[in-house]
Amino acid sequence: MTRYFEPKYRTILDAEDGELEALKAQSAQDEWKPSFHIHPQYGLLNDPNGLAWFKGKYHVFYQWYPYGAYHGMKHWAHVSSKDLAHFDRHDTAITPVEDYESHGAYSGASLQVGDELYLYYTGNVKYGAEARDAHQCLAIMNENGEIRKYEHNPLIKSVPKGYTGHVRDPKVFEKNGQYYMLLGAQRDDQTGAIIVYRSPDALNWTFLGELTVDIDLAGYMWECPDYFEVDGKDFLIFSPQGIEPEGENYHNVFNTIYAAGTLSIEGLSFRVDEYHELDKGFDFYAPQSFDADGKRLLYGWAGVGEVEFPTDKNKWAHCLTLPRELVRKGNRLLQRPAEALELLKGSSVAEGELSSGSAGIDLAGFKAWRAKLKIEQATDLQLEMFVSENEKFTITYDRAAKKVITDRSGMVHVTEPQYGATREVTLTENLFNLDIIVDHSIAEIFINDGEAAFTCRVFPLTEDKQLKVTSDMDIYYEIHEMNRGIDE
Ligand code: FRU
Repeated sequence: MTRYFEPKYRTILDAEDGELEALKAQSAQDEWKPSFHIHPQYGLLNDPNGLAWFKGKYHVFYQWYPYGAYHGMKHWAHVSSKDLAHFDRHDTAITPVEDYESHGAYSGASLQVGDELYLYYTGNVKYGAEARDAHQCLAIMNENGEIRKYEHNPLIKSVPKGYTGHVRDPKVFEKNGQYYMLLGAQRDDQTGAIIVYRSPDALNWTFLGELTVDIDLAGYMWECPDYFEVDGKDFLIFSPQGIEPEGENYHNVFNTIYAAGTLSIEGLSFRVDEYHELDKGFDFYAPQSFDADGKRLLYGWAGVGEVEFPTDKNKWAHCLTLPRELVRKGNRLLQRPAEALELLKGSSVAEGELSSGSAGIDLAGFKAWRAKLKIEQATDLQLEMFVSENEKFTITYDRAAKKVITDRSGMVHVTEPQYGATREVTLTENLFNLDIIVDHSIAEIFINDGEAAFTCRVFPLTEDKQLKVTSDMDIYYEIHEMNRGIDE
């Protein structure tokens, strides 16, 4: 059978002479390339994949299409770090050249088995513009970082009865001496689900059935399931497509949910105690978590869907979020920037106390910085970032409503305006701190030691920029530069 072909289904092995070098040179000079967020040298990045702490290093893989800022043939790119702050780039980890992955090596997770890191992924196969099949596959990384595809791929051929070709994103974990694989799936009736496989050896898999998750939010597809325990509580994360906005929640084209509850894997059920939207910002999707030294860390894709960005013209798009540590508070997950980010702390920019009124802090020329604010007493607060004559990004705290509102409508480059330019969250207690981390074209905003996080892509103009703080009570602020963590 001839392969379904479109020009975007080309691997890096098909590059013409000098083509990749030209892409790299063009992307490298873009003014919005991050300096410490993991991003592609060129082409499009999407989901984090295969996250692991393995043999003394953090390994982060991500979905990557080399040839431009759009979704095409997906590879797995690879970076690693000894300290979770400074990353090295490696050769492409998975290049989809086999028939069982003819239209991309899609997302998946990793698991250490013996001295090797098993990288589970989905081989995406298309038969036409719409018709597709999915195979679950394995690549294996040894202690020296060499990666090979498993010789008996695919591990799971095609999809079980009752589901469409949209079955993908394996998450594998061990429980009670067995291995389990969760997969995002779409039922034949076009609703989303999670299905489960079991294996005695992490290689041979049997279909068990569908996981019952008592959440009333079907959508048409559930992507990227993740499961883990924090402090004895089970958490399930997944990224449903096709759910409607509800109050402050789910305002992006696709959204991510976490549920706290109890997993009975053999009983095929996840009993939900509570569920919440994971990130309240504009650009967040398909996160994955992993365990490192007893800490639960998470990366998300700081992007969602198919968005047009001002960086497209320079042939690169998207980055990952910073690594976040997940801390349990009852049925909630707090998300905090990983402590390792302190290793990137650069010189101090400003430090001071503001006792009601406004302060304007000059950040002209600073593209990578972190601002920590301590709020001593409950106060209304307004914070304007990237302030120039032409633009600003506003964060407002409304004390009476306990609401934080982020507003990017004042920016010149507003992406996805059809989904609205504000996002908000109601806090459980008054605002007491803010941690804002800015890296060229991304701002991550953490509130009250991680009670809420907003991931926002921003494309500020290259002009004099101020950070303006207005408050009616005492606040303390500390701003420093952030150093480079990843090379171009
Ligand atoms: C989520 C997703 C996954 C899929 C991957 C393909 O963003 O659609 O479900 O594996 O991206 O790049």
